[in-house]
Amino acid sequence: MTTLLRVSDLAVAYGHIEAVKGISFELQAGDITALVGANGAGKSTTLLALSGLLKASRGKVEFEGEDISRLAPNQIVQRGVVQVPEGRAILTTMTVLENLQLGAYSRKDVAGIASSLEEVFALLPRLKDRATQYAGNLSGGEQQMLAIGRALMAKPKLLLLDEPSMGLAPILVQEIFRTLVAINRSGLSVLLVEQNVRQALKIARQGFVIETGRIVLADTGAQLLADPRVEAAYLGG
Ligand SMILES: Nc1ncnc2c1ncn2[C@@H]1O[C@H](COP(=O)(O)OP(=O)(O)O)[C@@H](O)[C@H]1O
Ligand SMILES: [Mg+2]
Repeated sequence: MTTLLRVSDLAVAYGHIEAVKGISFELQAGDITALVGANGAGKSTTLLALSGLLKASRGKVEFEGEDISRLAPNQIVQRGVVQVPEGRAILTTMTVLENLQLGAYSRKDVAGIASSLEEVFALLPRLKDRATQYAGNLSGGEQQMLAIGRALMAKPKLLLLDEPSMGLAPILVQEIFRTLVAINRSGLSVLLVEQNVRQALKIARQGFVIETGRIVLADTGAQLLADPRVEAAYLGG
């Protein structure tokens, strides 16, 4: 296995309140990795720090062996670390196609962008059917698919997702998780942040449980699913 991302003693504070209190974990290339925990545990803060959108107060983030912890967000995107933001953040008054094209803003390889678009349409055919519609007219599930498709247009190596299943009906939740598995099979590594602990651990090879800014459990997804502590705290057991 090859380590793709190594996070060492990462701490992130809002003012004087430390939300992430020195976490360390590694992601292996080719994996789906889940970071799960309750509301307020520090999941979004962690992802924002990995993306460079929040400054770490301590610690280091290495991607493919390079220290990226002091890079600007666009430089991190160019390295191949691309986040699907929480709440989707699609542009509702632009078309589906325009939203997708925005995802490729940092690329200059015109032919590559065109083939990425074909790959996104193959993976998410509903976006192709709706390419000329305003994004604001899509259903919640379709908007989530669009947010994922837009991130894919940046040609990521590692896709970061912040609660992609949030607010979706169960059938759409299933579809989102199936899509993530398909994306992973196409060769991308995935870091998935979820409050839907059961579904996330089901598709993840490796998982981490975060509580009040600290990683308290680390194991394979399967082992965590079978862990009585996870069961009691997150699976309603
Ligand atoms: N912009 C902010 N300003 C101050 N505190 C924040 C801010 N965003 C999050 N927090 C706090 O940081 C902690 C972690 O939040 P967050 O990373 O959003 O958790 P999660 O994504 O796991 O729900 C929480 O206590 C939250 O209240
Ligand atoms: Mg969050």
